[in-house]
Amino acid sequence: MTAKIIDGTAIAGEVRANVAKDVAARVDKGLPVPGLATVLVGENPASQVYVRMKQKACEKAGIKSFGYNLPADISQAELETLVSELNANPEINGILVQLPLPKGLDEERVLNSISLEKDVDGFHPVNIGRLAQKGRKSLFVPCTPDGVIYLLDQTGVQLQGASAVVLGRSNIVGMPVALLLVERDATVTICHSRTKNLAEVCRSADVLVAAVGRPEMVRRDWVKPGAVVIDVGVNRVEDASLEKGYKLVGDVAFDEVKDVASAITPVPGGVGPMTIAMLLRNTVKAADIADRN
Ligand code: GUN
Repeated sequence: MTAKIIDGTAIAGEVRANVAKDVAARVDKGLPVPGLATVLVGENPASQVYVRMKQKACEKAGIKSFGYNLPADISQAELETLVSELNANPEINGILVQLPLPKGLDEERVLNSISLEKDVDGFHPVNIGRLAQKGRKSLFVPCTPDGVIYLLDQTGVQLQGASAVVLGRSNIVGMPVALLLVERDATVTICHSRTKNLAEVCRSADVLVAAVGRPEMVRRDWVKPGAVVIDVGVNRVEDASLEKGYKLVGDVAFDEVKDVASAITPVPGGVGPMTIAMLLRNTVKAADIADRN
């Protein structure tokens, strides 16, 4: 079997085009242009790249972007004061604090200080808590997990009753994606560093989501023939043959697994572009919420 390659770039492009249309429609109606504040603390190079990409994507969609770059030694109080100011600023509909924060800052307190209605990343403890409760709806769903579910839906995967295995239990991806799969009536197993018989558990999955940050950890014999494989990993591995000296690979050994899976996301060009697309969508939703308040 050769897997269908799930084209995240194309799917994210459609979402972004729809967001741009929604923004234009708001402006036509005389409603304010949506605004997103990005808060970057310190100089983590990967975070700098991600934040720049998010800002550029905003501009392309007609969303105003407000960038705040802060030194790594900023105090907890100063950071929370900035968030309070952004909460009170009517031009700003969404607030994104790029994670991870430098050591010494209390991430949970910072996320808790973001107004629920502006929590476009969906990491506020109340939004995450609602995701974990039956019959409750969070205002915003974290962007990468939301993008994973969107790709599965676009691929026509039946989640109800499916056996789903999530590799990784991070706050940003693994845990929220598992909660979203439960919400969709999948039977979900979360694997982590202490899981026994990891390959065997993964092999039981109809839907396998890999989000551990280990280059090409998932091998061909970890995957049930016909399974759908979503690779959230973005890992830099050295490659002297390339000018930049490295290449990006996922958590899945793509070349092996594509021969057994029925569908698979590539890296790059799979889940990655979806994160930004869902962030833009959440920002317009936040602007719609602000109109009603
Ligand atoms: N770090 C890695 N992914 C994300 C994300 O989606 N949002 C934020 N704020 N930080 C991240």
